[in-house]
Amino acid sequence: MSYAEKGSGPVLVLLHGFPLDSRMWQAQVSELSGRWQVIAPDHRGFGQSRSETPFTIESLADDAHALLRELKALPCVLAGLSMGGYVALAYAKKYPTDLRGLILIDTKAEGDSPEGKEGRQKMIDSVRAEGSKAVADQMMPKMLAEETPKARPHQAQALREIMDACPPKTIEHALLAMRDRPDRTADLPSIAVPTLILVGDRDRITPLSNAQTMRDKIPNSQLTLIKGAGHMSPMEQPAQVNQAIGRFLGALA
Ligand code: MLT
Repeated sequence: MSYAEKGSGPVLVLLHGFPLDSRMWQAQVSELSGRWQVIAPDHRGFGQSRSETPFTIESLADDAHALLRELKALPCVLAGLSMGGYVALAYAKKYPTDLRGLILIDTKAEGDSPEGKEGRQKMIDSVRAEGSKAVADQMMPKMLAEETPKARPHQAQALREIMDACPPKTIEHALLAMRDRPDRTADLPSIAVPTLILVGDRDRITPLSNAQTMRDKIPNSQLTLIKGAGHMSPMEQPAQVNQAIGRFLGALA
């Protein structure tokens, strides 16, 4: 499993979303590594973690846990964006004692709706027929706040490059893994660690209502709205996201 790592101190782990890789966390790795050991893995099949083996959201949590055990990086604060958040919630259920805190970014606890599951199948058909770029074409318009591509074109370009590079087989495996993941809403009241929830105020994929459900059900949780961000708040508004994470980590330490 490939991973980016920087800094020393208590461990912060960053789990990327779909169809992305650890490069989405560049701004967090460089800024937060001043006080923390930041580890950003590429999930199985993504980025430099080349693999054609199918996976589930739970097996991605197992992969992350095995890597962190190998690196002697447990317990950690675990952050996940979107699909990375699904993995973080699976980890929180399975490895609660190897967790110091949880950061859930532009994600949700609910499983896929019947229409959502159908949408996954359509996307599988299109990646099989036309490759990764077809998936990026479909997803790009929803990933960022409407004004981001014009106001900060380098961010849109960086995102597009990461999405285009995702192998088609991995996209297919991830769509199946997300489609078949369980609804985690009933598990939220059992999360015992301090939890920070972040959501872009323009997130159209996992909007504020999803974040509010997690805030209402996770006992020791707080929600911060990231202004001027869509679904990719760590890339779109890195200063706000880093400040919110830094404050949360400071209070934990
Ligand atoms: C992600 O950003 O990881 C995905 O959009 C999540 C999803 O499709 O459910």
